[in-house]
Amino acid sequence: MTGYGRDAAALAGVQKLRFFPQSVTGGSGARLRSDDGRELIDLSGAWGAASLGYGHPALVAAVSRAVADPAGASVLSSANAPATALAERLLALFPAPWAQKVWLGHSGSDANECALRVARLATGRTGVIAFRGAYHGGTMGSMSVSGHSVHEGADKAAGLIQLAFPDPYRDPPAAGDAVLAGLEARLAEAGPDTVAACFIEPIQSDGGLIVPPPGFLARLAAICARHGILTVCDEVKVGLARSGRLHCFEHEGFRPDILVLGKGLGGGLPLSAVIGPDRVMDCATAFAMQTLHGNPVCAAAGIAVLDTIAAEGLAARAEAQGARLRAGLSRLAARHALIGDVRGRGLALGIELVTDRDVRTPAAPQAAQVVYRAHQLGLVLYYVGMRSNVLELTPPLVLAGDDIAAALDILDHALTDVAAGRVDAGAVRAFAGW
Ligand SMILES: Cc1ncc(COP(=O)(O)O)c(C=O)c1O
Repeated sequence: MTGYGRDAAALAGVQKLRFFPQSVTGGSGARLRSDDGRELIDLSGAWGAASLGYGHPALVAAVSRAVADPAGASVLSSANAPATALAERLLALFPAPWAQKVWLGHSGSDANECALRVARLATGRTGVIAFRGAYHGGTMGSMSVSGHSVHEGADKAAGLIQLAFPDPYRDPPAAGDAVLAGLEARLAEAGPDTVAACFIEPIQSDGGLIVPPPGFLARLAAICARHGILTVCDEVKVGLARSGRLHCFEHEGFRPDILVLGKGLGGGLPLSAVIGPDRVMDCATAFAMQTLHGNPVCAAAGIAVLDTIAAEGLAARAEAQGARLRAGLSRLAARHALIGDVRGRGLALGIELVTDRDVRTPAAPQAAQVVYRAHQLGLVLYYVGMRSNVLELTPPLVLAGDDIAAALDILDHALTDVAAGRVDAGAVRAFAGW
């Protein structure tokens, strides 16, 4: 049986989001090796987690050292040197005029859940503001503030004020103004001192890689500040150099109260962080903990990632390589009517597919077919979006120029084959996607 067949027999469906039959055995740089002997260019970067690509020497060395001489396994009942050092590094990278503390976790989900719980406990308020289309995680608390269609059946947080995320491609120019006016009205109704936090994605990624209109997030943050509502910036996917700046909020002219990091922070190992004011992060003890939080091997990986971002200038590199990739995508858009919009920042890019550019009809089946065909041709990427029609590119930050050129050729080929009806739609439908 193939690796994919064995996986089908052994691994639970509830944790799968599959788009094609892939089984990988190794990787190097921005390339994965699959068990049929092929090498694939990975423009997803494991949904952005493989920030340094695969097998980066700095990560290999740091993790090997830490696993050979581990400083315990946890931060719950003992300090450990890598966790302390990582927290100090994170504080230096997100400075504030007030005292701050760091919480270390395993995933974006547990980090957002922690942020929600501490914001509520510290403020004594329960309400929370969040956005339709937002994906903050797969645990009950993080799902309760998410607005993504994949979490439609999940229980929502008490006192949730869910706002539309203004979409410059689909909404009229004043959409952001209307959302903020609506928020002011909802706050007046609920009483602003009932709301603990506002969860923001500086680019709404799983919702469709949507960059908000200029100034929108700064105005939102100003409303929150006026009412003592903590702004929680979820940079799990687009933070730590991916956007072309160290923090994605730097593009937006506001500073959040609480910063949430994950995915790329561990470079592929399970690691997340919440950084916030000590009055919030120290509001209780034994309140938001799991046994292996602050694991020294994962913390060592985090330090190696931060060191490498600085040593290799990965934020500037993401901006430069992102511009090259985007220019190539714009050239493809000139030749492929399926491409309605190309957008994003740095190496967080989205390609919205439509069947009609004038009315912007979402091309969901075609997005699934492009992703499937690209994989057959040697390229890994996935689709996102509330309409399931946005190809998402979040490649390793070390992506090389050759990888970009080869990936663009494959995308060109895949788009051509889909438009010509040469992709087996039945085979694609076997993958549920999302
Ligand atoms: C913005 C954002 N926040 C949180 C999460 C949840 O992260 P994880 O799947 O690592 O728990 C994701 C995952 O896609 C995400 O994109």
